[in-house]
Amino acid sequence: MIKYMGRSAKILGTSKYIPEKIVTNKDLEKIVDTNDEWIVERTGIKKRHFALEGEKCSDLAYRAAVLALEDSGLAADQIDMVLVGTNSPDTVFPSVSCKVQGMLGAVNAGAIDIQAGCTGSLTALSVAASGIASGIWDKVLVIGAEVFKDIIDWTDRGTCILFGDGAGACVLGVSDSEAVGFKSTRLLAEGTSHGLLTLECDENHVTPVVKMKGNEVFRFVNTVMPKFIKKFCEDSDVKPEDIDFWVFHQANTRIIDGVFKRLNVSQDKTLINLPEYGNTSAASLMITLHEAVEAGRIKSGDKVCFVAFGAGMTLGALLYEA
Ligand code: COA
Repeated sequence: MIKYMGRSAKILGTSKYIPEKIVTNKDLEKIVDTNDEWIVERTGIKKRHFALEGEKCSDLAYRAAVLALEDSGLAADQIDMVLVGTNSPDTVFPSVSCKVQGMLGAVNAGAIDIQAGCTGSLTALSVAASGIASGIWDKVLVIGAEVFKDIIDWTDRGTCILFGDGAGACVLGVSDSEAVGFKSTRLLAEGTSHGLLTLECDENHVTPVVKMKGNEVFRFVNTVMPKFIKKFCEDSDVKPEDIDFWVFHQANTRIIDGVFKRLNVSQDKTLINLPEYGNTSAASLMITLHEAVEAGRIKSGDKVCFVAFGAGMTLGALLYEA
């Protein structure tokens, strides 16, 4: 059973916060043996943004949170729960969500970080909609935020070209119409593939860095995701071709191409911002949602499918009617 029962959860506001510092592919040519043409052709990425010195994950998350609250018209003390999807918290504890709850003065809210690789903010959205459906929360602030610059292995050209920093957020509340809101969700893990993408120390690093079997991740996603999405749509009583807009995790344009081809879905039905930001991990889905809303790509009555995958390996999907 993947359909939500109970109260319908609606998106009340969205935001993004992108740090100022820009690193282009040309800049990376000075650090590792790579080139702009290779990166663009293999990934679609042209540049990425990085947090400034001293700027932490909680700082980016806070800035996105303030903007999302402003967009929703709600005050911080009206929020019941702060959920943050992140893989690069300032510290293992306290959580980023607790820091943000404190900075906002969201005095009536609980706070939980969700670590599910790049599926983190989709997982947070899924949990937020469940909390609203069940009646335990009325208003939830969902944030995806990452500062990867400190956990990237800057000697590994296979990974350092991919990631960027950023944050995005949205506020969910109880929908006043049964038609509008989150309709279904599925979260799945393939834990036997946990070794494909990890954050760990090695002989060259005393602090943990991202390690990835890029080729295998690529193959995993292209094999598993189309089947996962088809089954999700079937169980949600929609066909992939009936989805009006896809909010898709931004990992690699070739992955988006490949999955859409297998689903027989046109790329016109999504927004790709990889050239600007690279893979911002758990922040990617939230940033993409905000940019789609801002660009008027999600219209009233649209069926919107959120899709993400990441370290774990984790997979997730959500269906929303706007
Ligand atoms: N610049 C130039 N050459 C590079 C390079 C770089 N940044 N990185 C790798 N190469 C080289 C390799 O050394 C290899 O050379 P060789 O054939 O002489 O051995 C060649 O390019 C092909 O490498 P390969 O790893 O097969 O490339 P690829 O087409 O698989 O692309 C990724 C690599 C990382 C872009 C791709 O595998 C990928 O995107 N994987 C998924 C990653 C992902 O989405 N992670 C996040 C999940 S949430």
